[in-house]
Amino acid sequence: MKSVKVTVFGKVLISGEHSVVYGEPALVASIDKRMEIELVEFKGYRLVSEVEDGAGLVRRALALGGVDPNGVKVKIWSEIPSGMGSSAAVSAGVIKAAYKWQGKKLGRQKWHELAWKAERLVHGNSSGVDPAAVIFGGLLWYVRGREIGKLKLKKPYRMVLVETGKPAESTGEMVSFVAERMKIYDLRFKKIVTELGKVSMKIREVMRKRGEIKDLMNENGVLLEELGVVGEKAIKISEKLRSMGWGVKITGAGGVKAGSGRLVVVGAELKTIRRMGYEAFEVKVGGDG
Ligand code: MEV
Repeated sequence: MKSVKVTVFGKVLISGEHSVVYGEPALVASIDKRMEIELVEFKGYRLVSEVEDGAGLVRRALALGGVDPNGVKVKIWSEIPSGMGSSAAVSAGVIKAAYKWQGKKLGRQKWHELAWKAERLVHGNSSGVDPAAVIFGGLLWYVRGREIGKLKLKKPYRMVLVETGKPAESTGEMVSFVAERMKIYDLRFKKIVTELGKVSMKIREVMRKRGEIKDLMNENGVLLEELGVVGEKAIKISEKLRSMGWGVKITGAGGVKAGSGRLVVVGAELKTIRRMGYEAFEVKVGGDG
């Protein structure tokens, strides 16, 4: 029976979530957490119903990849934690698998264009940064519609990702939430977005020299709190971790009603954070660029 399989990886946003939607630069890295996607022939059947998969992302990605969803079965295995690029991985992975299914080549630029299109279905006004991380891999500098550049570091950074709880809002809802607030608080919010862009640039410069980014990460984290995308629980945890001398910010879209997803923490030891009772894991950033 015909089948094809592809593997894609998740991502961590080091800097630039939300501000990247408005054209500011972002720093993003792929992480060593994988998703496997398999297409299997399913002859003689027609798809009449399906399990809800976040607004039909799989069907959309299959169609963009040129494969009719009737006649293939899509199997997905994932170890990507929520909020760390799962929908970008589904978009990119299914499109890649669809091309492979047809024996067609797919260049990274075109692949990104298609995956970004698919992702817009679930994120609304997506900046395309998540699919870029999944598709290009390594440590990336990303400016919406203008630049995707790789950054090479002599030595990787170790970062710890700390769970603050699953957000009640989707990424798309958080992007719209910021857009609404931008309309109301126009100047104040534009200033925060511009400041976030400046911090991303500073972080890039310091990372290039393999310097200390703790303070800049904290600056970034506080700006995201001011933007209103971080919930109370995550702010409390961030303050506690900052009081230990570490650099802390949310990574990804955040959330305000319940949890805010993961915090990215620099300067800390994983075992110390676990000993404090947090659910956490470690990633290496910039070692494979
Ligand atoms: C989500 O990982 C990052 C956001 O900036 C949305 C996007 O850029 O598409 C919140």
